[in-house]
Amino acid sequence: MTDRPITTTDSGAPAGSDQNSLTVGPDGPIVLHDHYLIEQMAQFNRERIPERQPHAKGSGAFGTFETLRDVSAYTCAALFQPGVKTEMVARFSSVAGERGSPDTWRDPRGFALKFYTDEGVYDMVGNNTPVFFLRDPLKFQHFIRSQKRRADNNLRDHDMQWDFWTLTPESAHQVTWLMGDRGTPSTWRHMNGYSSHTYLWVNAEGVKHWVKYHFKTDQGVENLTAEEADRYAMTDGDHYTRDLFESIAAGHHPSWTLHVQLMPYEDAKTYLFNPFDLTKVWPHADYPLVEVGRMTLHTNPTDHHSQIEQAAFAPSNVVPGIGFSPDKMLLGRVFSYPDAHRARIGANYQQIPVNRPRNPVHSYSKDGAMRIDLTSDPVYAPNSKGGPAADYAGQPEPQWETDGPLIREAYSLRADDDDWGQAGTLVRDVLGDDERERLVSNIAGHLLAGVSEPVLARAFEYWRNVDADLGARVEAAVRAG
Ligand code: NDP
Ligand code: HEM
Repeated sequence: MTDRPITTTDSGAPAGSDQNSLTVGPDGPIVLHDHYLIEQMAQFNRERIPERQPHAKGSGAFGTFETLRDVSAYTCAALFQPGVKTEMVARFSSVAGERGSPDTWRDPRGFALKFYTDEGVYDMVGNNTPVFFLRDPLKFQHFIRSQKRRADNNLRDHDMQWDFWTLTPESAHQVTWLMGDRGTPSTWRHMNGYSSHTYLWVNAEGVKHWVKYHFKTDQGVENLTAEEADRYAMTDGDHYTRDLFESIAAGHHPSWTLHVQLMPYEDAKTYLFNPFDLTKVWPHADYPLVEVGRMTLHTNPTDHHSQIEQAAFAPSNVVPGIGFSPDKMLLGRVFSYPDAHRARIGANYQQIPVNRPRNPVHSYSKDGAMRIDLTSDPVYAPNSKGGPAADYAGQPEPQWETDGPLIREAYSLRADDDDWGQAGTLVRDVLGDDERERLVSNIAGHLLAGVSEPVLARAFEYWRNVDADLGARVEAAVRAG
């Protein structure tokens, strides 16, 4: 006898053998009532769940968020009160590839956080970029299809990507970001995370501020050159996944300091551009960063599938003190994610341990496949039988006022609303000469990998609109081949 546990079937009874199927004599056929063999084969055939569409490739870890500063003047959210520590899980990802794609392909990176607060699960589902390609959710599905695979040859296609981008000028700021050094971070530990969207913070007195989150890496921002990223893609496609896991296993716990930008509620009505436009940042000079706290990742998953693959992050998971904004993209996402989770994991996905709130749940949801929690009467509301009664933590929900006709139109324009300005500022005022040189080289390399006329001419025009000199240099580099 050893200390090892004996193998059981999934129903807990001892399994006959780990080695041999049940047969008629040692040389005879396998019999159908070898239910342990059948359990092994059947379970294996059902091991995969659909991958995320998009953000399929990713990995993550568990950690703690600690609020270090007093921001109670801005939000009454329990997790952001001074000194509060909240357990959390993070998942980092790339966007366009599949579950097995190389980590280092040029792409934005997902930065998804789930906080198990005393007032419910709070998710901050951001990216490593402060902006996005679009400002209307109707375009998102088309954008992602242009990044994935063609119908005919099942190949990814730069011509298709640039066709979409150049016909979608609001993409310019994000594409400039993507083609720069930060499009290939050196690891997930060395990149920042941004909410990108604007959210609403409300304090205990009901005072409202618009807010953007910036999780700044304490490891410092570090990036790979295009050549280094390509080399990793060939030699270690799981470079980021490996780096995160091995760092934490070795006791090097990565951390990020959360800062926020806060805009007084009324400012949004008169600011120079629409502050809810996801293709724009708020200049730091107008809305400086305010420190809030620190998140530290300290614990690796022990079962990637159960704890990371089945993790379901949703911008709809907000808690008292935090609300949405009129950002159309955010409002689209609030619907999309829980819908994706029901399709990808199942109706009762929130009962899986990684998704389960740590505070008591008293919802009226019931039944459905794989339900684990027991439902009790009464199963309806209103009722006079002592069932839960809604009371939004004793406060009004964090909402905003709006009015107008039902209409299909882009955001109305203000003085500084345009598609190119902030991209140009990034190129001219933020990047140094070396970074601009690599930007030209990265764009030209991308265009030379399969982009043809008339898309190519539009691409040159696109970059001239961002910055005349940049456009000229990109065209010259592509013509030189
Ligand atoms: P600032 O000079 O105050 O901020 C520039 C910011 O750019 C830095 O704080 C840094 O943000 C970020 N940055 C530095 N190097 C790079 C790089 N190679 N690629 C991308 N971002 C970089 O100016 P403004 O706030 O007026 O913004 C000017 C431009 O900076 C914007 O148009 C935008 O493209 C970019 N930017 C602005 C951010 C903002 O929230 N205001 C955030 C990130 C970029 P960080 O410390 O977050 O890394
Ligand atoms: C994943 C939709 C924009 C960040 C996903 C998924 C969907 C989706 C369906 C897969 C979810 C799952 O199966 O678990 C959309 C739509 C968008 C949008 C409809 C716009 C209208 C954005 C933006 C950001 C973002 C702007 C960042 C600011 C992410 C991240 C993930 C993700 C990080 C992966 C989450 C994880 O790790 O599980 N998106 N998305 N998305 N999205 Fe979006």
